[in-house]
Amino acid sequence: MASHATRKAQPAKRLQIVRALLAWFSTNARDLPWRRTRDPYAVWISEVMLQQTQVATVISYWERWMRALPTIQSVAKARPAKLRKLWEGLGYYTRVRNLQRAARHVVKEHGGHFPDDFDRILALPGVGRYTAGAIASIAFNQPRPILDGNVTRVLTRLFAMRTNPREARTNGRLWQLAEELVVTASRQSAVTLSSSRKARGVQPNRRHPGEAAKATTGPCSCLNQSLMELGAVICTPRNPRCEACPVAKLCAARRLGIADQLPNSRKRIVAAERRIAVFLVQRDGRVMARQRPAGGVNAHFWELPQVEVQGERREVPRLAREALGIKPATRTPLCAVPHNITRHRIRAEVFAGESLGPLPEARWFTRAELRRKAFTGLDRKILRRLQLA
Ligand code: ADE
Repeated sequence: MASHATRKAQPAKRLQIVRALLAWFSTNARDLPWRRTRDPYAVWISEVMLQQTQVATVISYWERWMRALPTIQSVAKARPAKLRKLWEGLGYYTRVRNLQRAARHVVKEHGGHFPDDFDRILALPGVGRYTAGAIASIAFNQPRPILDGNVTRVLTRLFAMRTNPREARTNGRLWQLAEELVVTASRQSAVTLSSSRKARGVQPNRRHPGEAAKATTGPCSCLNQSLMELGAVICTPRNPRCEACPVAKLCAARRLGIADQLPNSRKRIVAAERRIAVFLVQRDGRVMARQRPAGGVNAHFWELPQVEVQGERREVPRLAREALGIKPATRTPLCAVPHNITRHRIRAEVFAGESLGPLPEARWFTRAELRRKAFTGLDRKILRRLQLA
């Protein structure tokens, strides 16, 4: 007998889910700026920014990026330092390097026209199955599935899937369900979006240049976005708002009273505690900084000289001297700055320091330069705390 994990979603249930989601999305979609365009380039930028980053953070980054670089040609031609500055603070910086590689590929191989063929989209550097599905469905209304954290949560609950969604079989089943839903949606008619333009304070006239806001959008585009939207605003990890959910009546987990136990993706990775000593070294009103090497984390971003501290704080002077040729001016730090990124809980202690000799690749920046250059997220936080930028 087929198990939960292998059974196809009942066609009638699928159709009910799709209709309910499309109706809900037509009146409840948040008015996000990238939803006012179907330009695949603009959609691609939004999707890459939205990987690992909250909608609320992405909005201003996306708007700034689209103003600075309105076309894929402009990304292909841009100086990498300009792209890093536009990305500063978003993290996961390989994303921005891949964006430029992909833009150059589109210019060279596709005459600057963003491809609409799924396999060609998927072939772009940095574009995986999720992003390719998002672009194909949102920009081109193709029946391509998407599966991210939000969609996984919605589907595991709707179909009461108790197995771990990271495990290959369950993951395959989730992709299959996502595909069945978007294929079902492709047979529905276009959706008229009537979401309130007031809802999030976005100005109705703030549009991607050259694009008019579309009153109607394709059903595949809307279905996929409705799954993400439901996960983001209703079917949340904790305290899901089932009373406001358009598919509550169809939700197997709700019927079983297990919605808040799904998805079963335990095995949380424990964050590593790290301590870093950072040095503020000044000379003639300028601040010492250096660029991180190619190939590593935060490659090419600027940072203040710093060392990882494994042991006690009293080790700091020796570490600083050996690794950086810097002598801390005091035993106690000027300030301590916490910084949490995915799997690291960082505590940065900032010391005033004195340079004992030249540090390779060190540069001395004025305040204006400190503001202009792209610094790592942690270092931008430190510069702000020190009121230097
Ligand atoms: N998360 C990922 N893609 C998204 C999108 N297009 N809109 C809102 N949230 C998202």
